[in-house]
Order: sequence, then C-alpha cells, then structure tokens
Amino acid sequence: MVKNGEYCGVSHGKVILIGEHSVVYDQPAIVLPLEEARMSVRLNPRLDNSIFIDCEYFCGLLRYAPDMLSNIRVLVDRLIYDFSLKNKGFDLIVRSGIPHERGMGSSAAVAVATVRAVAKFAGRALSFKEEFEYSQIAENIAHSTASGLDSAAVASHSAVWFQRSVEISTFAFHTDAVLVVADTGITGSTREAVSDVRSLLKSYDPNVSRETWSHIHRLGQLSYESADALRANSIHDLGENMNEAQRILSSLSVSHPALDCCIHAAHVAGAVGAKLTGGGRGGCMIALAQSASYAQRIRKALAQAGAIHTWLVPLGSKGIQ
Ligand code: MEV
Repeated sequence: MVKNGEYCGVSHGKVILIGEHSVVYDQPAIVLPLEEARMSVRLNPRLDNSIFIDCEYFCGLLRYAPDMLSNIRVLVDRLIYDFSLKNKGFDLIVRSGIPHERGMGSSAAVAVATVRAVAKFAGRALSFKEEFEYSQIAENIAHSTASGLDSAAVASHSAVWFQRSVEISTFAFHTDAVLVVADTGITGSTREAVSDVRSLLKSYDPNVSRETWSHIHRLGQLSYESADALRANSIHDLGENMNEAQRILSSLSVSHPALDCCIHAAHVAGAVGAKLTGGGRGGCMIALAQSASYAQRIRKALAQAGAIHTWLVPLGSKGIQ
C-alpha cells in the first residue's frame, strides 16, 4: 500500500492454540493469526538520510532509541544494507492495536510490519520465508531464543502448523466452533517464562528434569492430536487437549492466578476447553466454544472474571478453505 508518498506495512497478532513452550524444544505447535488485532508501520521518506521512529515507547532518531527497541534498530540496519538504502532517510510511524507482553506476538508483528513497509519503499516483493527470516532477526534480540512461532503466525493469514527446522505449513479445516480470546491485563515476560522452563529441564534433581521432559513431549503429542481433532471437526477432543495442555503448563509454572480465574470462569460458562496462550505468567487465555451463542456467554463470564479485553475468533475462518 503506497498512499500520499507513504509506504505502509501491516501485520496482526497471534494466538497459540497448542504447543507453547514445547515448541522451543522442537515439538510441533499450532498457531492462529489474530487479524482482529492489527499492527501498522507507515514509512515516510525524508529529504535527509536520517531514520526516525515514532512509537508508543519513543519518538526520535532510531539510533538513540532505548535498548528495548534494539530489535527494530538492528532489523532496520540490516534491511537498509540488504536493500541498498544507505543514503535514504525515512520516518517509521508505528501504530499498534496489539497489547504488548500479553503473548499476542506484538514484537513479531512490529518486525513483520516494518519489513513490509521498508520492502515496499525499496520496491522489493518478499516471500513468506524472507519475511519470516527478517522478523526472526528482531525476535532473537527481543526474546533471545524465539522459536519462530510468532514470526510465522503474524506473517500468515491461516492457521500454521509449526515445527522448528522441520515444517511451517498452513492446513485446511472446517468448524463452527469459536475461540474466545481474553486479555487478563497482566504483563508476562516470555523471556523469563522460557528461561524458567529451561531451568526445570536442567534441574539437578533428575526426577524434576525427567518429568519436565515428559511434559514437553506430551505437549508435542497434543499438537498432533489437536490437528487431527481440527481436521475431523471433533471439538470436544480439541477442548480436552487444551485442558490437558493447561494442566501441563500450570505444572511448568507458567500459569498465573488471573489466568486460572479466567479459565475457571470459561469452564463454568460452558467452554469445552480453555488454556493460557503464549508465554504465560499473565497475558491472554483462550476458551473454545462449540457455537457463537456459547461464545457470547463465555465472553460475558470472562469480562466478569476480570478480563480487560476479549476477541471472538471464528475458528473455521483460520483454516485454508
Ligand atoms: C511465545 O509466544 C511462545 C513460546 O513458546 C516462546 C517461543 O516459541 O519462542 C513461549
């Protein structure tokens, strides 16, 4: 999109249906694009060769941006080099409808939207793989050992089956089920949660480490079983898998009382499955509703349980048709 001399890159948030944390250890995961929460980066060319950024955290020369924006600074430097933009200057105006530190992929989304805006300015058309790889430059700085799941989802328009270094693909399914996504409003650090799970895996107590590895493998299996359930439109099986994943994530210490409270409220309101989504320790949860009317009931219950924002996501709209 080029409007009035502006080059616009857009992307969106994501929700992990199943497989967070285990995906870091090369297990498969299923992640959905959340196009209901959008990110845009507008690029305005400048007459000089300086690069400015205007975002929620900082407004000024990108090279003076705080460390929390070093992911974007390094990414933009790389794009300038790869696209031969050395003597060009521009303003990057970032506008986000994705709450940050809530497991919704905001850091990957700003990276993908930036890549798209700068590529347009340079007259480059990028493949999904190129967008994914550029986004990972920023994500590896933001989260140190990002699996790539977030980058894949925010660059895709369909559900993604993701297994690091093995497969990134979209897949078809049909269902009337609806996912209710709720934001607890509590920020959770993915970096910290990932590092704490790693500590359990490396525990000096062999029982702890063995049990943690078996949890990681079971989460991976649940992804396979959930893909089968989605393809067969077996919503109750999918819901059971989500419930089991939540029990495992809780025992990995990445849940939070506010998530537990929303998950309980969703069950009481009739959800067939409910779990945290993303890194955990706060952030968002998802509840599976068998129909749109159940979804409305669950949404109301989640608001009463303290969720500050909810999104209704028709699950069928995320499968390639
Ligand atoms: C974060 O959205 C998902 C985690 O599995 C971390 C990652 O995949 O990099 C917790």
